[in-house]
Amino acid sequence: MKNSWILLFVLTIGIISCKKDDGEELFTQTALTIERPAGFPEMIIPADNPTTVEGVALGRKLFYETLLSGNNTMSCGSCHNQSLAFTDNGRSVSTGIDGIQGNRNAQALVNLGWNRKFFWDGRAQSLEIQALEPITNPIEMHETWPNAISKLKSAKTYKQDFYKAFGTNDFNSSHAVKALAQFMRTMISYNSRLDKKLRYEINLTSNELNGLVIYMTERGDCFHCHNIDGGRLLTDNLFHNNGLDSVFTDSGVYGITGDVNDKGKFLTPTLRNIALTAPYMHDGRFATLEEVVEHYNSGGKPSATVDPLMKHVGTGLGLSTQDKADLVAFLKTFTDSTFITNPAFSNPF
Ligand code: HEC
Ligand code: HEC
Repeated sequence: MKNSWILLFVLTIGIISCKKDDGEELFTQTALTIERPAGFPEMIIPADNPTTVEGVALGRKLFYETLLSGNNTMSCGSCHNQSLAFTDNGRSVSTGIDGIQGNRNAQALVNLGWNRKFFWDGRAQSLEIQALEPITNPIEMHETWPNAISKLKSAKTYKQDFYKAFGTNDFNSSHAVKALAQFMRTMISYNSRLDKKLRYEINLTSNELNGLVIYMTERGDCFHCHNIDGGRLLTDNLFHNNGLDSVFTDSGVYGITGDVNDKGKFLTPTLRNIALTAPYMHDGRFATLEEVVEHYNSGGKPSATVDPLMKHVGTGLGLSTQDKADLVAFLKTFTDSTFITNPAFSNPF
């Protein structure tokens, strides 16, 4: 079953032929149906950006393309490393091309096609909108889109690649972000030991099972926000304050909405591949999963916006040393080695 990921992509025979406005050239796209893994919800794909073989191939190149940055040194892949589930090489926060440090931890990129909001504060409503930002962000790739596009236009293969994907040589940023989004939607993880357990293919150890019980019951309460049922995405795709601080240095969603009820709220991250994505939380404050579990076991810090689901604020969960170790062991069953070694997501250059 080592190569079972190959089965994920089913090429449909549907070839879409299109005529250019001038009616001269024809281009063909090969529609790519992203198969839904068992137990996952339907993926929402924008009507104006259907997934194609050509679009995904272009998106993969762009993801690893350093020409998209101001000094041609940095690509998306620089901060989103596949072997670490697309996180930033153990850094608590990322540093851009000018050496300026940001204030946020690079999120894992996995199963993004099921998310509705992007970034820790949910400020982007789609992957297409999200992908516009890193290029121009002064603390990331610090380039202008017109410059980035003109560099791509003078590079060897991109005119052809964009033509194949979108039927135009005169491409712009909206084509580039569409291709990036198509590629990122194919980055699906569904082969962790947890998935295999849920598909009745394997059993977990007794320690992992104890961890599962803590996760899935009121003893740990993790399942309320990092859902397993209802999608296996290990996130509810909602915003919460999980009690990290009483006074906020980064106010999270409040920075976007200006609503005081949003202070200290962040998008629940997926826990897929969590053992690979240290350090943890929006600012990378915890180095290990043991520290994360200790945070929840302590109950977290009180504040006006702390989530009602953090029921044990002030008192703590009261987990034993063994329980805490078992919960960590269970979190490690979310690691999917086929995802981090899948050649379809690797650097094509
Ligand atoms: C300098 C490092 C850096 C680079 C380069 C970078 N990112 Fe990121 N990425 C981050 C950080 C940090 C965050 C979290 C930012 C925040 O929440 O404010 C993030 C968040 C994201 C997210 C949101 C994930 C989620 O679950 O909501 C996506 C998707 C993403 N990046 C894709 C990309 C793409 C595509 C590129 C290239 C066009 C890219 N990144 C370039 C550091 C980087
Ligand atoms: C009230 C909802 C909620 C509950 C309950 C909850 N979490 Fe979280 N979890 C979050 C949010 C929100 C974050 C991100 C917080 C931040 O960075 O500001 C998070 C972050 C994490 C992270 C770090 C993820 C990363 O990518 O950095 C881990 C690990 C984690 N939670 C595990 C757990 C475990 C284990 C439990 C049960 C003991 C649990 N969570 C209970 C909402 C919750």
